Amino acid sequence: MSSMYIERLSTGVKGFDKLIAGGIPRGFLVAVVGEPGTGKSIFCIHFARRGLLEGDKVIYVTTEESRESIMRQASMFGFDFEKAVKEGKMIIIDALLRDKRDQWNMVELTIDELIGKIIEAKKALGYGRTRLVIDSMSAFWLDKPAMARKYSYMVKRILSKWDMTILATSQYAITTSYGFGFGIEHVADGIIRFKKVIRNWELRRYVIVEKMRQTPHSLRVHEIEIVDGIGMRVKGPVEATRDEVTLPSKVVESVKKGIERKMIEEELMEGLLSEGM
Ligand SMILES: Nc1ncnc2c1ncn2[C@@H]1O[C@H](COP(=O)(O)OP(=O)(O)O)[C@@H](O)[C@H]1O
Ligand SMILES: [Mg+2]
Repeated sequence: MSSMYIERLSTGVKGFDKLIAGGIPRGFLVAVVGEPGTGKSIFCIHFARRGLLEGDKVIYVTTEESRESIMRQASMFGFDFEKAVKEGKMIIIDALLRDKRDQWNMVELTIDELIGKIIEAKKALGYGRTRLVIDSMSAFWLDKPAMARKYSYMVKRILSKWDMTILATSQYAITTSYGFGFGIEHVADGIIRFKKVIRNWELRRYVIVEKMRQTPHSLRVHEIEIVDGIGMRVKGPVEATRDEVTLPSKVVESVKKGIERKMIEEELMEGLLSEGM
């Protein structure tokens, strides 16, 4: 029933919460998917920063960028992650540098080490609502894509007991490779997909909520922008008439092939006509 109260966590991205009825339900594992450079990490940075503002504990696992890189990116939007880390409100687990000397670095990059480190971080941060970012999750099954689903399930099952609301990124689109990213999308309570398109010689970015359990979410593709000094914000829904970003690449390909065939047929026809003249 709609009378049942669902606690929702704001994402901290201007204009985004209203697409998902106010925020992400507490305890959810949400997959943030999309190709490189679409805005996944920046979305996660906003989610983490919003948590700090609301007094949540924040754990941020980074596999493709160093801890310093995440802190520098955050500071470009005026978010002071360094201070939050120093004050013991946030732990950034660095899985890139693999330096054993730091307690919050990962060395093996296995799923067991990941879960172990996250629980260790949670204990260090103490009780309370916690936001967890795993950026990216696909790094943990790069050499064994068949494990994606099992690992995602493990993460969800074990960490749900620790009062965590989780964002897990995956940088492979289903269309690029069926092996990657596929597992997490089945297990996840929600899927937020980022896209980039070049239109009129300009890079544009979009977001679509593909799934959000227990939520009457928007079904529209929305354009987003990332602004220096400010961060990510939702500009608005894409007009239906130029809504080509939702077309699967297969459809686009077959349309292109159809046009090619038509051109060849026309050329042949012209040739036949001129011969007959
Ligand atoms: N300070 C900034 N001002 C404007 N755009 C930025 C800024 N920092 C990063 N960006 C944009 O964000 C992109 C990176 O987004 P990111 O979230 O890291 O992508 P990914 O999906 O790979 O995680 C950059 O390629 C750039 O276009
Ligand atoms: Mg990233």
